[in-house]
Amino acid sequence: MSHNTVEENQRRHQLDDDDRVWLFGYGSLIYLVDFPYLESRPASIRGWSRRFWQGSHDHRGTEENPGRVVTLIEEAGAVCGGVAYLVGAPVFKQLDLREKNGYLRVTAEMSFDDGTHATGLTYIATPDNAAYLGQASEYEIARHIRGAEGPSGPNDEYLLELARALRELGLHDQHVFDIEAHILRLGET
Ligand code: SIN
Repeated sequence: MSHNTVEENQRRHQLDDDDRVWLFGYGSLIYLVDFPYLESRPASIRGWSRRFWQGSHDHRGTEENPGRVVTLIEEAGAVCGGVAYLVGAPVFKQLDLREKNGYLRVTAEMSFDDGTHATGLTYIATPDNAAYLGQASEYEIARHIRGAEGPSGPNDEYLLELARALRELGLHDQHVFDIEAHILRLGET
């Protein structure tokens, strides 16, 4: 079942139009940057792992056959690398629509490569949202992704683009790279 979070997100943070906010992106927000930003920097957040455990009914799948996309799962000691964007507050109106299928804006403490930090926002789909699919093996996730497609394109394109973007940033994510390896292997059979 899909889950629309637009109204809840707009209630959560009262932002003024001229506010500037750091946004931490760890999934498609790394490689599909269709919003204006003032500055971008590699960044990481502590205590969270990137996992393909969220269902996508509106971008990489459909109501009948949801795809799998990433969310952040709390994990003590984990560090998730991504990209931070300094954006004007009006950008969140656009992003709330893009991330509406279960993602909530959550305050995040991010660290930059030079050792400095900033408090900003990130979109997280928590396990209690209706579109959540949950844990599965990397092989099962790869098979699932290969069989899904939605209005934004094939689900495997999301995975492959994310893996490529992480490598370009010099980031290693075993979960993402294991799913990628399964997908590439399944493609050969
Ligand atoms: C993100 O990229 O930060 C959120 C999840 C997504 O849109 O893929």
